[in-house]
Amino acid sequence: MESQRNLKTLFSCAFLGLLHLFVFAAAEVQYHDFVVQETPVKRLCKTHSIITVNGQFPGPTLEVKNGDTLVVKVVNKAQYNVTIHWHGIRQLRTAWADGPEFVTQCPIRPGGSYTYRFTINGQEGTLWWHAHSSWLRATVYGALIIHPKADSSYPFPMPKREAPVILGEWWDANPIDVVNEATRTGGAPNISDAYTINGQPGDLYNCSSSDTVIIPVDSGETNLIRVINAALNNELFFTIAGHQMTVVGADASYLKPFTTNVIMLGPGQTTDVLITTNQPPGRYYMAARAYFSAQNASFDNTTTTAILEYKSAPCPAKQPLKPIFPSLPAFNDTGAASAFTTSLRSPSKVNVPTDIDENLFFTVGLGLFDCPRGQTCSGPNGKRFTASMNNVSFALPRNFSILQAHHHGINGVFTTDFPAVPPVQFDYTSNNVSQALWQTVPGTKVYKLKYGSNVQIVLQDTSIVTPENHPIHIHGYDFYIVAEGFGNFNSQTDTGKFNLVDPPMRNTVAVPVNGWAVIRFVADNPGVWLMHCHLDVHITWGLAMAFLVENGFGELQTLEAPPVDLPECF
Ligand code: C2O
Repeated sequence: MESQRNLKTLFSCAFLGLLHLFVFAAAEVQYHDFVVQETPVKRLCKTHSIITVNGQFPGPTLEVKNGDTLVVKVVNKAQYNVTIHWHGIRQLRTAWADGPEFVTQCPIRPGGSYTYRFTINGQEGTLWWHAHSSWLRATVYGALIIHPKADSSYPFPMPKREAPVILGEWWDANPIDVVNEATRTGGAPNISDAYTINGQPGDLYNCSSSDTVIIPVDSGETNLIRVINAALNNELFFTIAGHQMTVVGADASYLKPFTTNVIMLGPGQTTDVLITTNQPPGRYYMAARAYFSAQNASFDNTTTTAILEYKSAPCPAKQPLKPIFPSLPAFNDTGAASAFTTSLRSPSKVNVPTDIDENLFFTVGLGLFDCPRGQTCSGPNGKRFTASMNNVSFALPRNFSILQAHHHGINGVFTTDFPAVPPVQFDYTSNNVSQALWQTVPGTKVYKLKYGSNVQIVLQDTSIVTPENHPIHIHGYDFYIVAEGFGNFNSQTDTGKFNLVDPPMRNTVAVPVNGWAVIRFVADNPGVWLMHCHLDVHITWGLAMAFLVENGFGELQTLEAPPVDLPECF
């Protein structure tokens, strides 16, 4: 159907004769069908029935141009509720198409469908889409590549080839069972059994070598690799043997190019790198493994690989030598992680908001709930794990989405009292925070923002239970990361370090372990926008909040009307 429509477009353009140049240059509307379904997939020697889109794992790659409109009809033929989120898409005035369940829509029930309709506005580079319901995104995800408009080009030399490299995380179990078990016991969920590149674990795992992903290249080319961290619960280091990477973009914003041997991506983040194939023809591993900053916790310490293969390389049968293996930073190498994140700059001077209307300070971190009477809980101290922002553990509503409740004026679904600063100030990164401060409070609280307000948020990690690097993502917005650092943020001494000239723009910031990051944006997109840690285990525990951005003046500053097929909760 999709190709039929494309063909139709092609023909009608051809018939327009001279006009067709103009038509090709103009924005187009792309139609896609996403059928969410159970699909048998074999990894690590075992077949699991996983949830996929159109039977593909990873799901289909969408390729659009800046300015295009996507119309994606999602049909749910699986046994779980599902929604799809277009991670990083601004969704200007189309919050209804954003996707997080019970935030902007009720889930698509088994047997139901919903059509997401949105326009790409001023974004170029690599984004991705994923399920936003329970832990379905473990297998329901794919790349969303945004090319420049037809009449423009990359701000770097045109690469010979382009390839997405999607890093994922695989359980030798049903991931929904894994999270449900953790929710039942209050303990930490089982760790994953593998990481994957484009859906394949690669040579270092059992039963995996014959399916290792191969990325073909030829000598003397410059190629664009679009790296996406789609893993659920782990930040990842990524490197390529023998090849330096020139970083040119992240989260669908361009960057001032710089060269590095290793990049770090939190879940949700993307990084576009150029590589030049200037090495002796051969086979080179690309590899990813965890950057793990929490203490006293187990994690998946395996390594996923794919192979960069020169076409001119002697064929593997004649060359029994293993591909060349790269070196990766140690799992806890926070120095390597921050050396990378602090190297990011916008390509030139940018317009960072300066007259701040909303000066917010949010703690991000873990916590505990008391174990309900009569139950046993397997979190620390016999309690249940939670997580919070400003001590509020975000609880999703059940009967309406927050956006519906806001739009239709339905009371009792959420409150607007999310605190602008922590309810108690303490030494956030001390290694013995009083146990009295470990208990979080559940709530469905939003923070209201006036249309057009200039927002600054200090995101401060806490050491409660454990300090940890948290990849914090905001829906519906890109933001400037004006500074990051370690310890407690100090407004007296740290404000002077802000980069208000060329800070990087992203949609997800990796807040340093036992540290802080400061972000700024203009609240120019009306709607309800989830902000959360993109480690799914933490969002499960409540490390989230939502902004309610009011309408401004006139149609162009007002949320569109809800689509007629928006799913109902009942
Ligand atoms: Cu990748 Cu709530 O998002």
